[in-house]
Amino acid sequence: MSELLKVTIDGRSIEVPPGTTILQAARQLGGKYPPAMCYYSSLENTGGKCRVCLVKVAQASEANPRPMPKLVASCITRVENGMVVENETNQEVINARNGVVEFLLINHPLDCPVCDQAGECDLQNLSFDHGKENTRYEEGRREFDKIDIGPYVQLHMTRCILCYRCVYAAEQLTNQRVHGVLNRGDVSEISTYIKNAIDNDFSGNIIDVCPVGALTDKTYRFKQRVWFSKPFDAHRECSHCCGKTVLWLKGDNIIRVTARKNEFGEVEEFICNSCRFEKRDISDWIVEGPRKVDQESVIASNKYELPVISPAVNVDAKFVSE
Ligand code: SF4
Ligand code: FES
Repeated sequence: MSELLKVTIDGRSIEVPPGTTILQAARQLGGKYPPAMCYYSSLENTGGKCRVCLVKVAQASEANPRPMPKLVASCITRVENGMVVENETNQEVINARNGVVEFLLINHPLDCPVCDQAGECDLQNLSFDHGKENTRYEEGRREFDKIDIGPYVQLHMTRCILCYRCVYAAEQLTNQRVHGVLNRGDVSEISTYIKNAIDNDFSGNIIDVCPVGALTDKTYRFKQRVWFSKPFDAHRECSHCCGKTVLWLKGDNIIRVTARKNEFGEVEEFICNSCRFEKRDISDWIVEGPRKVDQESVIASNKYELPVISPAVNVDAKFVSE
């Protein structure tokens, strides 16, 4: 087995195998790790696009104790033995991250009050931590019409931050990718080639990997603010995917089905369109119990009563009003 490499991040050290990136090491270390808007650990080649994960490398390695001259993207920079990294402890990093967020928001419509992603949007969370109250941008924002791409997904290009996650998800999860980034620079846009519809059994996963509300579930449109719905872990026998999902309930009705996400906001196991869009009867599922949600998220503002796990009838689990 190769030797482990020691890296110190914000004063705390961890040993990791060669090939580990700074972001992966920081996630393993726990605490405040750099944010990531384009990197997605289960999708190959992601990362290096959005720059929100910038960190300062104060010491490149034990052999080369000089600092790296510029901030580096932690999601694509590999750890060296003896590397010293500054994330939250370096004001230059925080300032750069604030600047990146300002850039990400240049063309964003800030329509969170009417966006289905609100409450579970990575850009909204990032803006909360690093955004400014007012924009300094005076030019017109890019505008696009909403496009239905396939039977289940709607594209709001105005909200897209061009992270490429959906492109890699379609490339790696489906057998025929029919959408991608067209054009370059500030005229780049996500589009389906010659108006092809995205219609593949795993296409719904592009909704889950999108960090903003650019790709939304047409079957869920405007049905409920996420913090008023009740998430439950559930599973079913499925011949296409793992069948493990989260059911989002309004009353006793399933209004949305998503894949399960881990603490980094990434899908644990991708699910098929049949589980996501077609199984909307509670009897289609074995309900395991209320989904644990991050206590700092807005979804947690409606807390559930626990324990309420009683299969088949646990849709009666209630949120406790404050
Ligand atoms: S549509 Fe979403 S996932 Fe795709 S590039 Fe834009 S922001 Fe990223
Ligand atoms: S998460 Fe590292 S560049 Fe986007």
